[in-house]
Amino acid sequence: MNLYERIPNNVNLAGDKKLKRALETWLPNFLDWWREMGPDGFQDKEVYLRTATSVETDGWANFDFVKMPDYRWGIFLKPAQPDAKIGFGDNHGHPVYQEVPGEFRNSLRRIIVTQGDTEPASVEQQRQLGKTCPSLYDLRNLFQVNVEEGRHLWAMVYLLHGYFGRDGRDEADALLERRSGNPDKPRILEAFNQPCDDWLNFFAFTMFTDRDGKYQLSALAESGFEPLARTCQFMLTEEAHHMFVGDTGLGRVVRRTAQLMKEGDVRHLGGIPLEIIQRYINFWFSYSLDLFGGEISSNSADFFAAGLKGRYKEQDQYEDHSAANEIYTLTVVENAQLRPREVPLRNALNEMLRGEYIKDCEKGLARWNKILKEEGGEGGDRLLYLPSPRFHRHVGEYAGHHFDIEGNLITKEEFNGRSSEWLPTMEDREYVRSLMHPVTEPGKIANWIAPPAVGIKGKPFEFEYVRL
Ligand SMILES: [Fe+2]
Ligand SMILES: [Fe+2]
Repeated sequence: MNLYERIPNNVNLAGDKKLKRALETWLPNFLDWWREMGPDGFQDKEVYLRTATSVETDGWANFDFVKMPDYRWGIFLKPAQPDAKIGFGDNHGHPVYQEVPGEFRNSLRRIIVTQGDTEPASVEQQRQLGKTCPSLYDLRNLFQVNVEEGRHLWAMVYLLHGYFGRDGRDEADALLERRSGNPDKPRILEAFNQPCDDWLNFFAFTMFTDRDGKYQLSALAESGFEPLARTCQFMLTEEAHHMFVGDTGLGRVVRRTAQLMKEGDVRHLGGIPLEIIQRYINFWFSYSLDLFGGEISSNSADFFAAGLKGRYKEQDQYEDHSAANEIYTLTVVENAQLRPREVPLRNALNEMLRGEYIKDCEKGLARWNKILKEEGGEGGDRLLYLPSPRFHRHVGEYAGHHFDIEGNLITKEEFNGRSSEWLPTMEDREYVRSLMHPVTEPGKIANWIAPPAVGIKGKPFEFEYVRL
């Protein structure tokens, strides 16, 4: 591990002069982007951050005070397995690819660029949040997520520079040029152009949208293109914390709301009503479902056949890694009615991955509902839920149709008439924003959220996680 190089890495960058030079040229551009689009303010403050220093499962990270621009962005891949084989598809059992297979060059580059684009996009979306943090603990978690998304960008840029020649270098530059929400040069995926300008949005985003990342990365971690697999395997270790931030963050909001419900009117008491929390869930869950792509996809079939993108836990969950003759039944809209349709399973892999994701999200909902029960009172009789996967979709079979929250087909007029029941209204957003005042005294927390059960790395909640 060359931790004290200009670009810390475990890919023997020193031994590849050309790649090293290329990445060292990209580095100052990255830092310019970080200063322009990273967290607004706080750049000269010391933050108690985790820095990846190794890829070993025990003790892979170091916790210490760091100023964000001094964070050790680096390139870390899980170690190679000797004699690794392609784990699925038509070339199952053949040696893994060390170079990009020619016929998949464009589509593989597209996958890497699309994944790479989400990383800086989320940093841009969250850029202003530090100014309204509910506590120093939360402020630190925000910055932890931000620097790691920056490192994930590095991971994808390494692949682009290392394996895609000139086109890859151009794409790496373009990753620093697009801007979240900018109509002229937007980020590639729509969820990453949505504003994330209050902390309820942030927690819902890290719960639902970062979790999409987990499933995409897991499918790519199975890839027969070995450098991609090893890169994604390590990114997943960091990603777990991002989802923890979202899951427990929303859980803490739910807890506080339930407590306030016992005292009186939540709004009067400065909390976030459960129905607003539900509408934020509906919004981010539906946008995140779009990220998995169309329900029926020939791309997904080609990728699987080539051994490039697998299923979730391909090796643990499945015995037949070819999946060539299997059939999958999904629900489509035909003549204004919902009907089952059978498709070759390989064409339904996006939908299968989405199904795994939904199961995982449901566990989060169960945890929050348990909190409502624990707190008792009026909140104990209420349940939060996930909307139907057909609700509010912009990609795939259900895009262009309208569904109610239970997934029944309805007219556009009906949808528009009821959308304020289901999706955050302007008024909801303004109300949530009106609660967002910074709380930066160690040990103090905003009124609309409960404190965390434990601090970071054994430190108490009262610890001064950011030195302001
Ligand atoms: Fe990421
Ligand atoms: Fe993330």
